[in-house]
Amino acid sequence: MKKALSLIIASVLGFTLLTGCGSSASKPSETASGSAGAAQSAASSGAAGAASSGEKAETASVKTVEDGVLTMATNAYFPPYEYYDGDKVVGIDPDIAQAIADKLGLKLKIEDMEFDSIITAVQTGKADLGLAGMTVTPDRLKNINFSDSYAEGVQLIIVKDDSDITKPDDLKGKKIGVQLSTTGDIYASQDYGDDNVEKYNKGADAVMALIQGKVDAVIIDREPAKSYVAANKGLKLLDTSYVTENYAACISKDNEDLLNAVNGALKELKEDGTIQSILDKYINSK
Ligand code: ARG
Repeated sequence: MKKALSLIIASVLGFTLLTGCGSSASKPSETASGSAGAAQSAASSGAAGAASSGEKAETASVKTVEDGVLTMATNAYFPPYEYYDGDKVVGIDPDIAQAIADKLGLKLKIEDMEFDSIITAVQTGKADLGLAGMTVTPDRLKNINFSDSYAEGVQLIIVKDDSDITKPDDLKGKKIGVQLSTTGDIYASQDYGDDNVEKYNKGADAVMALIQGKVDAVIIDREPAKSYVAANKGLKLLDTSYVTENYAACISKDNEDLLNAVNGALKELKEDGTIQSILDKYINSK
């Protein structure tokens, strides 16, 4: 498992974050290994060339799926990054996308879909970008570009209050619930074997399975984990982080102009404090 974790942690190095959380991985001793360099350089090359085009962010010369519109694909069951407030999708990612769209002189349109469909939607021109608390991974980088990172993600483990699971190693031989195709799914399947991993379409369904005793633990990103634990009695988060990672927008490899424009906008939004204030608005201080 340690090896697998190294790879995972390696895959998410490379970006210094604006969130101020530092980037202390859960297991600092396990950082860096063979594929780290590759993952890291792949990750940064995805974003390469972007920083220099910041000054172009305000000109709306980029091609989008629909003229004058920035179409964002997401999976709106991931609070506080994206969730429904009535029939409106709100959260960190919609706010960031709106700020980017404003910079680019575009209107924002949000398409909610399965998490599993986001990359395909962006690849096949159904959406301009995916913003979904999505982690940059070497495998995803084979199919799609990622913008610069705008937030840090941490994979955590949720268990029942009376669980005997106290650390990642205790998950061996247990049933683990995850959201299909998320990094939680990928890591858990690698580390504990596919047979031990139950995959649900929504994170909330995995948490429900935990409450019902169908799985022994759920591996999921920290912020939704916190909100699920707060909303359901009898659940707790393990102190140890499982993996630390970086969130970014995914953009088609065929639209480098958009990648550059988004990175330019993100750079300005980081520099003027907008991104941090959006994160602070939704994330309670830890
Ligand atoms: N960070 C994880 C990943 O990229 C989970 C993201 C899930 N996002 C969502 N909107 N449901 O795989």
